[in-house]
Amino acid sequence: MVDSRQLREYVLFVSAMLSTPLQYGPLTLRNRAFLAPLAGVSDVPFRRICQELGAGLTFVEMLSAIALLVQNDRTIQMLSRHPSEKILGVQVTGPDADRIQRSVRLLDQSHFETIDINMGCPARKVVGSGNGSALLKDTARLEDIVAAARAATTRPLSVKIRLGFTADAINVEANTAAIARAGADMLTIHGRTREDTYAIRVSLPGIAAGFAAARAVNPKIITIGNGDLMEAADAGKMAQATGCDGVMVSRGALGNPWIFRALAGEGSEDPTIAEWEETVLRHLDYHEEHYGDTEIAARLTRKHLLWYASGFPHIHRLREVFNTVPSLAEARRIVSEFAKTLPSDLRRGEDLPREALASADPKYQMDRQLDRGVGALGEA
Ligand SMILES: Cc1cc2nc3c(=O)[nH]c(=O)nc-3n(C[C@H](O)[C@H](O)[C@H](O)COP(=O)(O)O)c2cc1C
Repeated sequence: MVDSRQLREYVLFVSAMLSTPLQYGPLTLRNRAFLAPLAGVSDVPFRRICQELGAGLTFVEMLSAIALLVQNDRTIQMLSRHPSEKILGVQVTGPDADRIQRSVRLLDQSHFETIDINMGCPARKVVGSGNGSALLKDTARLEDIVAAARAATTRPLSVKIRLGFTADAINVEANTAAIARAGADMLTIHGRTREDTYAIRVSLPGIAAGFAAARAVNPKIITIGNGDLMEAADAGKMAQATGCDGVMVSRGALGNPWIFRALAGEGSEDPTIAEWEETVLRHLDYHEEHYGDTEIAARLTRKHLLWYASGFPHIHRLREVFNTVPSLAEARRIVSEFAKTLPSDLRRGEDLPREALASADPKYQMDRQLDRGVGALGEA
């Protein structure tokens, strides 16, 4: 019998494992906590912030193979990277083996260090055109698609899936075995089905079953758990329950890049107000560097600022002003003025129970609409 103390110690032990390097083909990743591809979020500025706070691997948001192959302007812009990004992943979805293969070849030639195939996006527009989680429905076809991607690159190749299309059609084991047979090097499982909203908790046993089926085919396949990793402790629980080699953080990173510092074993996931101010200002600087000092740049920062506006006394009052902030200069002014109102060593969440924090945090109120990875899909 394992008692609760032993279980706690074991969770701490596996959490520490997440901070150790991971060899992914030729790539040496500094740790096993990745930032997910996030549509409309994982752009150059946000990736740089997460990398600097310790993320072991980051990805460009999901791209559409169709848009990529017609050289859609917005999609091509999404391929940009900062010189500091030495290792960068990219993710693509497509409706068939041919288009996936041609787009993977293109991404390979664009020198991304690793390529991921998205087979989980639930958005109606994406699924309706046979992309994203629509690919989960037919295991034989899924295997052909992954094999076609495999044939197009020698770089490390991964696939990100869900447990199945609906609760009545959970086929995670058949799909993960197929993915392993087709030669993927890494497998990420988001432990929900296509029809589940965020109100449904991820199924850790479902993820574990998927990993076991993949490992039965290829014991060396790297397994990454995804879903409901809102704070660092959740990652330990994911690793303990699924035996994953690493984790991919999604909503948990929104306005909260410090989660990577904690998972890397390099500090607290709760910043002091001084650290908060420094990081938010740096994020704004990276926005300016990448998008220019424009109104569009200001508009693009708004969602990040709303996510950052959480966890300190009275910070919710900033949300209204952040929502309409007209310029980067004004955003900087509001951030610094707010930070001045608190003692510089005050830590986020101090004196506030975690549940109170969560209920006030906008990312906990997200529904599936945001989990979409649309990119330029509709425009091709
Ligand atoms: C704003 C947003 C954008 C997303 N974009 C992508 C994407 O481009 N590619 C992808 O594979 N998943 C995408 N996802 C899904 C997440 O990576 C993840 O699988 C899902 O949110 C479950 O993890 P969580 O419960 O920890 O948030 C997105 C999710 C959100 C909230």
